[in-house]
Formats: sequence, structure tokens, C-alpha cells
Amino acid sequence: MRRLLCDLSEVPDGQLKSIELEGLPELAVANVEGTFHVFEATCSHGASSLGEGRLLGCEVECVLHKGRFDVTTGKATRRPSKKPIAVYASVVEDGRLFLADDAEVAPVPADTVDAASR
Ligand code: FES
Repeated sequence: MRRLLCDLSEVPDGQLKSIELEGLPELAVANVEGTFHVFEATCSHGASSLGEGRLLGCEVECVLHKGRFDVTTGKATRRPSKKPIAVYASVVEDGRLFLADDAEVAPVPADTVDAASR
């Protein structure tokens, strides 16, 4: 059974929303120009919630130390963040966003981590 994340109207273009579902870490939904992306909301650098961060294009900026992540891949894009965050597959249906049936944690491969340091 698909798990409901939110109504699409709850996440306007350029905005974020935190989501709590039983049995999963805190998630966040980002609306990037009408495309919705779901990712683990806990910053990999510390204990801050990325759901409280700023969405800058396809990057979310952590409020605590300004680290950034690409919400489409989970990749860390700006220090001090180095480790990726998990991203989840989702499905839009009847104006609502669901986790995909087979949604699993999909961490970015380690060799793509920390592009900001290159
Ligand atoms: S806790 Fe997010 S960048 Fe440090």
C-alpha cells in the first residue's frame, strides 16, 4: 500500500515541507519548478532538520551551518556537508504525493560525495 506524503497544494513551487511517517526517518518534500523530490530531512552533518532549511533551486541549504544538498540526488554540494542524504522515489496521483511502492533509502554512492571539495 502506498504511503501518503502530502497534498501537492501543501508544497508550493520553491518550498519545502517536513513529513513524519511511522517507521521512517523524518522526510522532507521539495517542489522544484513543479517536480517533487523526497529526501531524508536530517542533515548528514549534524542534527538539524533540512525541512526547516532554504530551497535554492534544486539545493536545500541547512539552517545550522549552511551546508547544501542536491534534493534530486542527495549529494552534498557545499561544505561543511560531506556525506549524502537519502532520497526516496515518489509518485503523484490525484493531486497527492505518495512514496513509491518500492521506495527504499537510496544513498548516493560514496565516490560522488563532497563535490564542493574538488
Ligand atoms: S548541521 Fe547541517 S550543515 Fe551542519
